[in-house]
Parts: sequence; structure tokens; C-alpha cells
Amino acid sequence: MRVISRARGVFARWRGRDIELKAPAEIEAMRVAGALVARTLAAVVEQTKPGVSTGELDELAEQTIRDGGGVPSFLGYHGYPASICASVNEQIVHGIPARERILAEGDLISVDCGAIVDGWHGDSAVTIGVGTVSEADRALSAACRAALDAGSAAVLAGGRLTDISHAVQTAAIDAGRRDGVTYGIVAEYGGHGIGTSMHMDPFLPNHGDPGRGPRLRPGMALAVEPMLTAGDPEALELADGWTVVTVDGSRAVHWEHTVAVTEDGPRVLTLP
Ligand code: MF3
Ligand code: CO
Repeated sequence: MRVISRARGVFARWRGRDIELKAPAEIEAMRVAGALVARTLAAVVEQTKPGVSTGELDELAEQTIRDGGGVPSFLGYHGYPASICASVNEQIVHGIPARERILAEGDLISVDCGAIVDGWHGDSAVTIGVGTVSEADRALSAACRAALDAGSAAVLAGGRLTDISHAVQTAAIDAGRRDGVTYGIVAEYGGHGIGTSMHMDPFLPNHGDPGRGPRLRPGMALAVEPMLTAGDPEALELADGWTVVTVDGSRAVHWEHTVAVTEDGPRVLTLP
């Protein structure tokens, strides 16, 4: 893989695509954005309970980001109208928050949030049970979180991109085996490079054989974001142009972290 210096940064070139390489000081700058996203999600988790609307959670998130000196990266992104995605139950990702969408006991909501600080992006998502959720929903979310952890652990210098994909897939399958079910891995969506923009090369699939794709190098940063379903993983985008739901109506979950490749191993940037 060649390394190229451009006016707008340093990139590894791989099959005609540029993968941004961050200097250690730039990774520190991304960590500031990541910490703000983590703080924002913590505030949202705290307020997520029956009777609260997803619109209110969005307002809380926007305020928390702005108070922290950041800019919500989702707001206005390709016309997206909010600062978080709030995806409830059969919604997988990109659910649009609304004052009319009042959360009820037993709902399962994924909240995805991004912020820009000093030009650097952080992107992270959590799944939250509203009040008490079913044991099946709790296990589904735990499986997705385990898949995220396994994927993050594979963000290793010298490895290859799809080592992460394979780790995510393997963890999801293993979790299903332990739980006595088969979780669906949503294939149409995946993770992505991140840095001076939210969505950058490379695209990161959540399944597949290891050992393919670009070699991971210190300075790369990736958003790792598995999406699992309780049933069939087939996904459909609604007429609003955003909300992605399961075709069979089964519940879906989504966890995400921004993770940097460093000399010392994976560094999760979106922790408090
Ligand atoms: N954060 C999402 C992702 O993980 C993207 C959100 S799309 C937006 O890739 F339009 F809401 F910004
Ligand atoms: Co993302």
C-alpha cells in the first residue's frame, strides 16, 4: 500500500481509494470528539424511560453536543433533520426522532450520535432497553455488543480490514449459539472509515472471510457498527428516505464505536 501526502492530509492508497492516516496528535483530537459523543449518549441513556419522546432525546443530544463545544454531524447530513438517529424496535438504523414518538415500557431503542470538534468526527451508537425489556431483547442487544467488542479487538495494525468483519460475524454467530437462536446480521449496512468526515473509505462489512481488504495501519480510524436482528436480517428503507426497518418486523439492535488503529493496539475513541 502506497502512502500519499495531499494538501488535505496523508492517505494510504488502496485499489484506487484513499484511506486517511491520522498523526498521533490528530488521533488525540478525534478522542476529544469521541468523548463528547460518549458524554452525549450517556445523557441520552439517563433520560431514556417510558413516556419520553425520541424528539426530546434529540433535543437533549443537540444541546449536550453544543454545550460541549461540538457540532452535531448528523444534522443536515444529506438533509437529515436531527442530531441523533433513534431507531425503535423493528427499526434497524436511521430512525428519525419525533415529539410524537413516545417511548413505552419494553421498547428497544438504538441511539446513534455523531459530533464534530475542531474538524474531527466521532460516531457511536448504543441500544437501550426502555424500562424492563424481554430476556430475548436483552440477549439480542448483548450479542450485538459482543460483536462490536470482537470487531473492535480486531482493529489491529498489520491485520486486514475484513479481519474485523469476520470477528463481528463470528461473535454474532457464537452469541446466537449460546442463546439457542440465530441472530440475523444486516448485510446492506456496515462500518466506515472516519476522521475529517463522518463517512470515509473504507466501507467495513459486518460479515465475510478474514484476510481481505486494505492492511490496517496506525493512524487509520474506523467506525465499527454491527446491526443484528432477532429474525430475518433483510432490511427495507421506508418512504421517508431514512428509516431502515426489518422486512419481517422482528426487532433489531445496533452498537457502534469509533476505533483507531495504534501502535499499541485498538483504541476506542468514543468512551467517556
Ligand atoms: N452514524 C450513522 C453511521 O453510523 C450515520 C447516520 S446517518 C445520518 O454511519 F444521516 F443520520 F447522519
Ligand atoms: Co457510523
